[in-house]
Amino acid sequence: MSEEKKKRDGFGSKIGIIAAAAGSAIGLGNIYRFPCELGNNGGAAFLLVYLAVVIFLGIPVMLSELVIGRRSQSNAVGAFKKLAPKSAWSIVGYMGVLCGFIIFAFYSTVSGWTLEYIIKAVSNSFQGKDLAAMEQDFSDFHNMGWRNVMWQAIFIFLTGFVVFKGVQNGIERYAKILMPLLLVILIVLGIRSVTLPGASEGLSFLFSPDFSKIDGKVLISALGQGFFSLSLGMGALITYGSYIKKKDNLTSTAFSVVLADTLIAVLAGLVIFPAAFSFGIRPTAGMGLVFNTIPMIFNQMTGGYIFCIIFFVLLAIAALTSTISLLEVVVAYLSEELHINRKWSTVWACVATLFIGSFASLSLMENTPFAIGGRTVFDLMDFVSSNILLPLGGVLIVIFVGWRLGKTKFFEEVTNEGTIKASLKKVIFFIIRYLAPIAIMIVFISGLIN
Ligand code: PHE
Repeated sequence: MSEEKKKRDGFGSKIGIIAAAAGSAIGLGNIYRFPCELGNNGGAAFLLVYLAVVIFLGIPVMLSELVIGRRSQSNAVGAFKKLAPKSAWSIVGYMGVLCGFIIFAFYSTVSGWTLEYIIKAVSNSFQGKDLAAMEQDFSDFHNMGWRNVMWQAIFIFLTGFVVFKGVQNGIERYAKILMPLLLVILIVLGIRSVTLPGASEGLSFLFSPDFSKIDGKVLISALGQGFFSLSLGMGALITYGSYIKKKDNLTSTAFSVVLADTLIAVLAGLVIFPAAFSFGIRPTAGMGLVFNTIPMIFNQMTGGYIFCIIFFVLLAIAALTSTISLLEVVVAYLSEELHINRKWSTVWACVATLFIGSFASLSLMENTPFAIGGRTVFDLMDFVSSNILLPLGGVLIVIFVGWRLGKTKFFEEVTNEGTIKASLKKVIFFIIRYLAPIAIMIVFISGLIN
């Protein structure tokens, strides 16, 4: 046991932890999924609910996961087994592993597109294209099902490579430098976007809420998006928490990550919507929203060619630091609980993900056989994981910390055994114990009824 503990890999520095956790959180969820969801759910009203979700639920749930992880020093399943031996709580961990696997499967589809779009950017294929041509290219690409699967396979392989190399050498090193760079490029893009003709319509779509638009669907979508974007509810942050050293401050880590993630999402909205309205792209355009709008903004910029390449490279890396955390949940489980060595755990997890994930990719072709009741396999995987499994996982995690682990152990963990101050600990614990479970349940049920 102590042997095993010594061998566990860990994060090297404070900034490394935040970078790795923020690397997990910041990804396609912010830049691709957030604008899609916002556009499909009426804009500003969604943004408001989203902000409420990340502030009031995101921080407490994230802190709960980090506490579970660091206290148990274990993977998502092992954590519950250690903290609540011989109980049914480990089901939460198994749910998380399953969910990580499903998310990785469809997430790697979109991750693969970022590689295709790097090639397109390098070969200058966006130059001078209007919206119709851009949209045509996007759907032509989807119809090349196997090309999608190829990129997906390459992306899964890249993820496996980093995860195989281990936490400190792999994950941490990449995340530290590249995430700040993404922020910079988004700011540049944002400035260009809001100064395009007709951008103000996009700004009011984003910032002047119509409260009558808030219904069960908006609530559950915002909740699902909040959990998805912050990597919550499936054990990614339990797993990462287990690599955090005893002297590090969990509360400030949670605050920093939530802040960074939300900043990037709102910034992505600021990039996409003013430009989309300016070019005449519908906010409900879904997948094409980001992949068509962004190159078109670059077309309007001096130096756009180079910036566009850099943007898609950074987007790919942002996706990679997220897929790493998804795969890490599965690999940590396989290697620590089933004692399959790390190398083979990684190989098997990747092969299985590619197999399942290729259905997600192929389901986006025209006339695909992989659609059930009018919904593509891709959509179904996304819906089941984000809107059902993550909120369910989240509610069980806060109930676990609030009622099973309890106040004393929670306080011990957030104050590092009383050596640091955590002035918000009482408020946060109150939310974890009472408000968060009730709020998540209400939103979840109202969404299901809808
Ligand atoms: N949070 C990541 C993103 O926004 C996706 C993710 C979800 C990663 C769940 C890990 C766990 O892109």
